[in-house]
Amino acid sequence: MNYSTTTTSASRLAAACIIVGIYESGDPGKAAADLDDATDGAIRDLYRRGDISGQLGDARLLLSLPTVRAPRVVVVGLGKRDRFGISAFRQAVAAAMAALKGSKTQDIVNYLSLEDVRDSSPYYLARYTVETIGTALYDFSEMKSSRKNKPLPLKKIGIALKSPGERRAATQGAEHADAIVAAMNLARDLGNLPANVCTPTYLARTAQRLARDIAGLRTQVIGEAQMQRLGMNALLSVTSGTVEPAKLIVMHYKGAAKKAPIVLVGKGITFDTGGISLKPGPGMDEMKYDMCGAAAVMATMSAIATLALPVNVIAIVPACENLPGSTATRPGDIVKSMSGQTIEILNTDAEGRLVLCDAITYARRFKPSLIVDVATLTGACVIALGHHLTAIMSNDDKLADSLAEAGIKADDRGWHMPLGEDFDRQLKSNFADFANVGGREGGAVTAACFLGRFTAGMSWAHLDIAGTAWRSGSKKGSTGRPVPMLTEFVLQQAGILS
Ligand code: BES
Ligand code: MN
Ligand code: ZN
Repeated sequence: MNYSTTTTSASRLAAACIIVGIYESGDPGKAAADLDDATDGAIRDLYRRGDISGQLGDARLLLSLPTVRAPRVVVVGLGKRDRFGISAFRQAVAAAMAALKGSKTQDIVNYLSLEDVRDSSPYYLARYTVETIGTALYDFSEMKSSRKNKPLPLKKIGIALKSPGERRAATQGAEHADAIVAAMNLARDLGNLPANVCTPTYLARTAQRLARDIAGLRTQVIGEAQMQRLGMNALLSVTSGTVEPAKLIVMHYKGAAKKAPIVLVGKGITFDTGGISLKPGPGMDEMKYDMCGAAAVMATMSAIATLALPVNVIAIVPACENLPGSTATRPGDIVKSMSGQTIEILNTDAEGRLVLCDAITYARRFKPSLIVDVATLTGACVIALGHHLTAIMSNDDKLADSLAEAGIKADDRGWHMPLGEDFDRQLKSNFADFANVGGREGGAVTAACFLGRFTAGMSWAHLDIAGTAWRSGSKKGSTGRPVPMLTEFVLQQAGILS
């Protein structure tokens, strides 16, 4: 996507489409006021007649306003002026995009960035503009024989600036957003692809393709024979019921000289039937999304490498299917993990932690400065935080704070949840060092406690994205979360953002 900035006023700008806003009170935003002056009050009339309310997200497309150079003007409601913050800004831009459905506009300039948006800056307003518009353009119809809804043929996004002094920051924001959107789209595609296409081998090939296409990235793929030699019996116990080969995908990005790497670990269960502890039938198709952690860390690697950030990051993806079969793991089976700790597998549906624990142990060889795992780990997390927030658990409060802060800045929020011995004790096993489940109560936390048993001496955080990685129902589809949070976190770690 091309992007540009402008300081030309809304009425005089030669663009195919501009977005302007009006508050609930009837107060026009800066650009709408300019259009009003040029048109003898066209926007105010619209409000006075009741054709637009000014309520957040209420948008109208106006065509061929007299004396205005842009043939398309989207007027969008901004809600209450004193509540116009990041999320309102993004909702307004998204609503403007929805109002353009079916339009042929090839470029669009957002003038809402002239408003006083709470807790924001020229950098973030440019970033949210490109991110929101880019996200609105996403379309997954590669598995359909014909496309019904053609996406906008948009080629260029413009951001209006209050002054030329904002140009540098805004351009950087747009550039970062461009990489984030591309990464989110990749993550969304991988999530939306069905499990008969997006297999562990497909994920591995995708990681190899990224390494070919983006400078600074290198991908290594470890097969089952080597996993066996490494002693990854927890991971192997999950894949034992399927003929589809498991892969351990390791992506390296080197952007800085001698500096301990950040390690990102992503759960890559390409389909989770539950195994012998079989899941109920309804909605099971959504378990194709059980590799969204893998997709998010792979996609984040692509964004980091595209932006050539001065950091070292390694992504580790344990990828396999969880299927029942005559060779599948049985409830009660005991395996020795790569760490040497033994695990009683009381429920084969708690498989995510089994693949992750060996991947986390493998991460130790890279002597990471910190490690973040990302996983659609528990249904309990969805009960706790709904589809709104990613759960953040950590043995390092500062790391948890940084991730939460990154989530706020990137508008891809998380919530710091507890860990602790009381929860950890629920994992007690009569026959092995511990069990892979700790009962229904506090299920998201006990799952994190399980992983915590493999992180001694490391600064580690766990993101449970079970509620945030995809949407169900008529809007079923991958969201691309938490790519924005992760990329923001790495940008902060790289010292790029203040
Ligand atoms: N992939 C699921 C978690 C999940 C379920 C995410 C539904 C989103 C929606 C995970 O592998 C799983 O099955 N977890 C079990 C754990 C339980 C057996 C302790 C769960 O949450 O039910
Ligand atoms: Mn499961
Ligand atoms: Zn799972």
